[in-house]
Amino acid sequence: MRALTGIQPSGDLHIGNYFGSIKQMIESQKSGEVFAFIANYHAMTSVNDGERLAKLTMQAATDFLALGIDPKKSIFWVQSDVKEVLELYWILSSFTPMGLLERAHSYKDKVAKGIASNHSLFSYPVLMAADILLFSPDIVPVGKDQIQHVEIARDIALRFNNAYGDILKLPEFKIEEHVATVPGIDGQKMSKSYGNTINIFGEEKAQLKTVKKIVTENVALEEPKEFENCNVYNLAKLFLDENETRELQERYKRGGEGHGHFKLYLAEVMWRYFADFREKRAYYEANQEEVREILYAGAQKAKAVAAPLMERIRSLSGIAY
Ligand code: ADP
Ligand code: TRP
Repeated sequence: MRALTGIQPSGDLHIGNYFGSIKQMIESQKSGEVFAFIANYHAMTSVNDGERLAKLTMQAATDFLALGIDPKKSIFWVQSDVKEVLELYWILSSFTPMGLLERAHSYKDKVAKGIASNHSLFSYPVLMAADILLFSPDIVPVGKDQIQHVEIARDIALRFNNAYGDILKLPEFKIEEHVATVPGIDGQKMSKSYGNTINIFGEEKAQLKTVKKIVTENVALEEPKEFENCNVYNLAKLFLDENETRELQERYKRGGEGHGHFKLYLAEVMWRYFADFREKRAYYEANQEEVREILYAGAQKAKAVAAPLMERIRSLSGIAY
């Protein structure tokens, strides 16, 4: 089973990203082949500062290695190091009706938000189709917002196959149904765009400060408290095993402790949970050359997979003459 996933290098990772997608990606390395790349061409649709994009790319690589992407088990690279993807992107463009892209929610949402509509924003799904189809994955694990992009990739692949034969493998998307939406400190979905995140790799003091801002009910210290809808509880349980979760529920029911106590507890368990990851991150941060070597080796492996398919495509389409 081959799973392929693209990661936009868009800044600090938060615990919503971790429990919503990264953890599953890391775990899937145990059972199958993982192809994961940093989508730096895609990030150009929102980052126009070159120095910043280069920095964000290395930051994403460092973070994902720290969180458990294992280059011995997985193929991990930067999108722009496998240029074949741009060639396929152009070829696929000839099989992409304008209407298909005009219907893309993600594009329409971005334009509705006032983001300037340029060609890369519009053709984003074609590049994503090339990312996917170049490596013939069985599945593409995605969040809900990306389902339509995988469907567009399937549609483009079908049109291509109609012209040249059964060449491109149609991808299936996979949604992690059991993954709950992680709440932010204000109780809405945790998201960078809402400014309500708790970062995975924040400083301890800053993290505690953020945790203290979590919105909670106002209940007197001695009173029993509701845990079901409490943001602190709902965040804490992500880090706890069954026994610890039950113990925390008891503390809520018993009364005698305030939300301040539970917040301190949350900050503590969170800090402990990411301790090993932090250590690994510090290692890679201090050894950026090693990170570059890993990415380079990953790109060579990815190219080796892409090259034979690309050769067939060039030959069938008459580009190889
Ligand atoms: P953000 O909303 O902060 O911009 P992204 O859209 O970059 O986050 O999300 C990257 C991945 O993390 C997606 O696969 C998404 O499903 C997951 N994710 C983000 N926020 C959450 C959340 N609050 N709960 C669960 N999963 C999340
Ligand atoms: N568009 C995806 C996102 O914003 C990132 C991405 C780019 C991707 N290419 C991909 C995801 C290919 C899966 C497969 O999250």
